[in-house]
Amino acid sequence: MTQAILREILDYAHRANPYPLYEELRKTPVLHEADGPYVVSKYYDIQSLLHDPRVSSDARNLKSPAADPLAADAQEETALPPSFLRLDPPEHDRLRRMTNRPFGPPHSPRRVYDMHGELKDIVSGLIDGIDNPDRIDLVDQVSYPFPVTVICRVLGVPREDESRFHTWADTIAAGLDPAPDADREERDKIVHNARTELGMYLAGLIEERRKKPGDDMLSELASSHGPDGAMTTMEVLSTAALLLIAGHETTVNLITNGMLTLLRNPDVLGRLREDPKLSVPIVEELLRFEPPVQLVPQRTTLADIEVRGVTIPKGASLWLVLASGNRDPDRFDHPDRFDPERGDIQHLGFGSGIHSCFGAPLARLEAQLALSELARRLENPRLLEDPPPYRQNAVLRGPRHLPIACDGIRP
Ligand code: HEM
Repeated sequence: MTQAILREILDYAHRANPYPLYEELRKTPVLHEADGPYVVSKYYDIQSLLHDPRVSSDARNLKSPAADPLAADAQEETALPPSFLRLDPPEHDRLRRMTNRPFGPPHSPRRVYDMHGELKDIVSGLIDGIDNPDRIDLVDQVSYPFPVTVICRVLGVPREDESRFHTWADTIAAGLDPAPDADREERDKIVHNARTELGMYLAGLIEERRKKPGDDMLSELASSHGPDGAMTTMEVLSTAALLLIAGHETTVNLITNGMLTLLRNPDVLGRLREDPKLSVPIVEELLRFEPPVQLVPQRTTLADIEVRGVTIPKGASLWLVLASGNRDPDRFDHPDRFDPERGDIQHLGFGSGIHSCFGAPLARLEAQLALSELARRLENPRLLEDPPPYRQNAVLRGPRHLPIACDGIRP
């Protein structure tokens, strides 16, 4: 019975609406099947495990990787060394601190804020480029190119190379999908090749930036010598790859899920059109209601941990279902209602604890700008398909296309 729920969640047939399944899943807050992962689905349990130092993000601590559907992905890390997403303290903290120096407070408090104008120009340019208002694919025309362009600019990837990143990032992100499929071996090979190609490309770029630094993050990561010393070339490489992929495959879904939700809630869309500042609470509620990262599958226990009477043994694989915690009625009133006015939106959309999303300020700003500009400029927008076709990925979940139409594009 319980086993069937997990399989159903990963099954593509439920991609458009997994939330009734999460409701079912929460009836067994710590679900464990045969030698599979321990799946945790209630808000406070997830929150506490995300802060628990006995929980590791390092896949090398997994006792029996073969039992975990994501083990092959962890082994793929050999093509690039593990990024700080997959490391524990103290290595994680050192690398995260060093990466933060050119990105956020206290050393670069205005970095994201100062990009406001450039970001707005990029999204406006994409909306200007919509040539047929009768059929717009929001994913291909706005939500995908926008964050891809932004993260490439932040890092300093030359514009002419941006399209190569789409392919690599797509392939690597698809490898994060735990859905069992027959072509696992073939897919692993493709993911491995993509990681290798991305690694080789970035190594060349790092070399160039060391010789001739610019004001981009890659230059700063490659050349900075703060109190933590300097990053090795391999560390710069895996950090840059992490930022690129994390910046590619998540924000696209926040923007697309956002527009889909707004078109299903036209009153909220109307209010946003009148008041762009509403994009701030709307984006927070979206991160709760339709989180782009549905579950965090790469955790391992470093000791036996008891949760609600169940002992999760040392070395077990742990899946934390953020999207389920976000809809937990023991935490949020009327959790299935999209309500940007709820005062309390402490969602799990960016995770929590030491691994909480590094790019959150950038992702928030991108989504706020994209949604407020779309609301302002698209005249009478409407959905052409509901539900739209989804990507295969159950972890990084979002529509593959969002076909919409409108009566025209306002200046
Ligand atoms: C809406 C967009 C985004 C969402 C929903 C999101 C979500 C998340 C989540 C849930 C985690 C925690 C993973 C874990 O606990 O294992 C995370 C970590 C991370 N995210 Fe994001 N992310 C987004 C955008 C971005 C962007 C734009 C960047 C890069 C600029 C980024 C960089 C990172 C990094 C580097 C980590 C690892 C942090 C660590 O291990 O200390 N993310 N993100």
